[in-house]
Parts: sequence; structure tokens; C-alpha cells
Amino acid sequence: MLVLGVESSCDETGVALYDSVHGLLAHALHSQVAMHNHYGGVVPELASRDHIRRVLPLTRQVLSESGRTLSDIGGVAYTQGPGLAGALLVGAGMARALAYALGVPAVGVHHLEGHLLSPLISVDPPAFPFVALLVSGGHTQLMHVAGVGRYALLGETLDDAAGEAFDKTAQLLGLGYPGGPALSRLAETGDASRFSLPRPMLQSGDFDFSFSGLKTAVLTLVRKAGLEAAADIAAAFQAAAVDVLVGKSLAACAHTDARRLVVAGGVGANRRLRAQLTEAAAQRGIEVFYPELAFCTDNGAMIAYAGAQRLKHAQPDLTFAVRPRWDLATLEAV
Ligand code: KG4
Ligand code: ZN
Repeated sequence: MLVLGVESSCDETGVALYDSVHGLLAHALHSQVAMHNHYGGVVPELASRDHIRRVLPLTRQVLSESGRTLSDIGGVAYTQGPGLAGALLVGAGMARALAYALGVPAVGVHHLEGHLLSPLISVDPPAFPFVALLVSGGHTQLMHVAGVGRYALLGETLDDAAGEAFDKTAQLLGLGYPGGPALSRLAETGDASRFSLPRPMLQSGDFDFSFSGLKTAVLTLVRKAGLEAAADIAAAFQAAAVDVLVGKSLAACAHTDARRLVVAGGVGANRRLRAQLTEAAAQRGIEVFYPELAFCTDNGAMIAYAGAQRLKHAQPDLTFAVRPRWDLATLEAV
């Protein structure tokens, strides 16, 4: 089945075509980062309006790049939540209308399930079961994944998400929005050993995280050392955050006897995290899988892929609602 996937939960419009036999045929993305940058964060109303402008041209683009037409589409998947209500409604409305017009099924996908399954789009996908470290701008979770829809939450952040901590720290250091990539670039030029920052909850014995204290420690450090030390502070912050993510992920693998670890979400693009995790996991005989860089951050391909798995079992249904808040652990297995 050829599935059109539409992602519009936040500040990226992503559209993709995934074929259950031939794999990913095309994907296209428009990032709103430049538009929101002026405001220091995502402005929900502007995000919704921009999704409206982008979603149809991106759909035409993936169809023409893959040499397919609308009549080839066998199902439409869209991000149903969690995310910004207005932004979600644009993708959901377009996807449902298109599916109705074409007489094909539509399915609402959980955004985090899209991230969780994104490494499966690669040529060398991990087998089930695995532990997934989900590190995005809005979420930080460790999940045990036994199959599609078979997710058990092991632990999560009690306050800020990892990406949010990167973004807020970047803001304290005078870098723009979203600050994660800029902060990690600056950190590569800094000395991580000049300042020592706390590793919150690293020894807590569970799989929960807390990043808000780290952000406060950075604020204190910026006041003391000044922005001349920005590169060293960025390096110290990144080292602390990565130590916690690596330590907790390996502890979760040990706890569940998992031999495979999947890293998904925007922070999964972080080079220090990738290097340290791969090395520490290898020492314990654990293989780490990452989505391709383009599929780490929000994209339509992960929604098309997750949708293709769920459409195999979907019942025809013309009603729809978006879910700005949605607990991943409530999904049913397929
Ligand atoms: O998964 P994602 O695209 O969107 C959400 O669903 O939230 O993740 C975006 C988050 C942002 O907080 C961004 O700063 C962070 O991922 N991020 C990074 C890097 N690239 C993106 N954080 C650290 N290092 C990076 N290289
Ligand atoms: Zn995301």
C-alpha cells in the first residue's frame, strides 16, 4: 500500500510517501525555524497558518519526485497528537479530506510513535524488542518496545525535556532558537573540563530524568563567569546532559536485558551523545541504532511509516479529532 504521511504537530511541515513493499519513495520538509526565530520560540498561530501554506505544495512535490499520482495513494496518515492543537488540525483536516475524496482509509498517528519507529525506515533496522531513548524538544522518555504499539514506559523527565534544556541553555548563552544545534556546535569549541556541572538524578536508581536544575546551574555559572566563557559553559552543559542520558539508557537496557538501544527525537542528532552512547554500549555488548539524521527531527517519513503499520489494521471511520495531549503508553498493540 502507498501511504501519504503528513506531520504538522509543531514547527515543521513534513510530507512523505511510504510504500509497504518498496519502502520510502520521497519525503519533503519545510521548517518554520526562521519565522519563529524572531520571537525566541514557536508562535502557535503563525505555525498553523504556515502549515496551511506548505502542506499542499509539499504533497505535490513528493508525488512528482516519486512519479506517482493522487490515485496511487492507498491510505493517508497524519499526526493526531501530541502537539499544538491548531497546527495538528491543519494536517488532520487536509489528510482526512484527501482520504475521503480518494475513498481510501486515513489514520491518526501518535507523534512519539513516529519517532520511536523512525529507525525502522533505515536499511539496517533493529529487531524487536529494544529499549528506546526518546529525546525531543517536548519529551524525554525511556521506553521498552516489544513491537508496534507494545510500549512500556520505563521512566521520563519530571520537568524539562532534554531538548528544552538544550534550548533554554542556548538562550542563556545568547544563541538563537532552537538552540540545541547551535549549542552543540559551540560546545565542540569549548573545554568541557573547565567547569563542573551536576548530573541530576544519575544515581537515583530509577529511569526518570530532571533537567531544570541543570539549567539553573548554568544560569548561576553564566552570572559568575560571564559570556566570554560561553563555549566552555556550553561544553560543560552538554557533557552533563549527555552523561545522564547515556547512564540512564544503559541502566534501562541492563534492567530489561535489552541488547538493542534505539535513540529517537531531535536530541538524537547530538554528536557527543552519539559518540559516547555508541562507545559505552559497545563495551556492554549493546548495539545502538539511530534514525538517519533527516529522520531524527520532525518529518513526514516517520508518520507515513508508522501509519503504514497501523493502516494494515485500520477500520473505515470518517470522524476525527486531534489530541494535543496524548499518553504513548495508552496505544493498543497491532
Ligand atoms: O524531535 P524534534 O525535532 O521535535 C520535537 O518533537 O520536539 O526535537 C527538537 C529538539 C529541539 O529542542 C532541538 O534543540 C533539539 O531537538 N536538537 C538538538 C540537536 N539537534 C536538535 N539538541 C542537541 N544537539 C543537537 N545536535
Ligand atoms: Zn518530534
